[in-house]
Amino acid sequence: MIVLGLETSCDETGVAVYDTARGLRAHALYSQIALHAEYGGVVPELASRDHVRKLLPLIRQTLAEAGLVPRDLDGVAYTAGPGLIGALLVGAATGRALAWALDRPSIGVHHMEGHLLSPLLEPDAAPPPFVCLLVSGGHTQLVAVEGIGRYTLLGETLDDAAGEAFDKTAKMLGLPYPGGPQLAALALAGRTSAEAAGRRESRFTFARPMTDRPGLDFSFSGLKTQVLLAWKASDQSELTKADLALGFEDAVTETLALKCERALRETGMKALVVAGGVGANRQLRARLAALASRRRVSVSFPRLEFCTDNGAMIAFAGATRLAAGQRDLEFRVQPRWDMATLDAVSTLVPPPVA
Ligand code: KG4
Ligand code: ZN
Repeated sequence: MIVLGLETSCDETGVAVYDTARGLRAHALYSQIALHAEYGGVVPELASRDHVRKLLPLIRQTLAEAGLVPRDLDGVAYTAGPGLIGALLVGAATGRALAWALDRPSIGVHHMEGHLLSPLLEPDAAPPPFVCLLVSGGHTQLVAVEGIGRYTLLGETLDDAAGEAFDKTAKMLGLPYPGGPQLAALALAGRTSAEAAGRRESRFTFARPMTDRPGLDFSFSGLKTQVLLAWKASDQSELTKADLALGFEDAVTETLALKCERALRETGMKALVVAGGVGANRQLRARLAALASRRRVSVSFPRLEFCTDNGAMIAFAGATRLAAGQRDLEFRVQPRWDMATLDAVSTLVPPPVA
């Protein structure tokens, strides 16, 4: 089954074609970062308008790269939520119109299910059951995944998402939008300066929020205030800024790793999967890899370009559901959407050939 996937929930236009027999055939991404940079964050109306401009050219480009014409498609998947309502509507209207014109089924995909299944785009990925750490700009969740559509929320953030904490802290330190990757890059210099001074750890140690009590919830909103206070009390040099970035990154990634370990212990599951934009963070990946080898469990990550928003994960999740016979019955997008309400799918599409 050959499925076109469209992602337009926020500030990236993503298009991909997933073939259940041959794996990912082609994918393309257009990022709106430059458009929103001067405002320091995503402007929803500008995002919707840009999706309108970019989506059709990207669909044409992706089909051409896959060597396909629209008639070759067996179905169309698009992100139906959660996300910005106007942005979601662009993908949904385009996807449904295309499916209708081709007389093929369409399916609205849950954006976070797309992230959650994205490690399965790799040939060596572990199938469910697994514990999934979903860490993006809008979500921080630990989910027990028994199968496709069988998701139990184990814990989540009570305030800022991990990516949001990265972005807000970066902005506070004067780094350009989007701050998460910039702060992570600056933290690398932090390590160098700390080592140069003969220290083996970051100069700054911030709290590991909510790790001193049982449970799997998170709270990241207090960290940015701790960083701000430390910054104000410091010499405000570039070196100090890098040391602060490292201290912040240490606090977030160690907290995430600690809760992952707890979730693995509590569920008895033997596999950990990481997905979402913060999954691109190298320190987090290193900590979780170390944890996995220590606990003798497996850990899988999406490839770096599929950690952040992309069309491939939507094409894959859509293909999985369409192949199981599910399809849209009504036109609906949902800015907020609980993953626990999704239908279960018993058959997993086979992993792509290496
Ligand atoms: O999954 P995603 O592309 O969009 C959402 O669905 O939210 O995640 C974007 C988030 C942003 O907050 C961004 O700053 C963060 O992921 N991010 C990172 C890194 N790369 C992206 N945070 C820390 N380190 C990174 N290397
Ligand atoms: Zn996302």
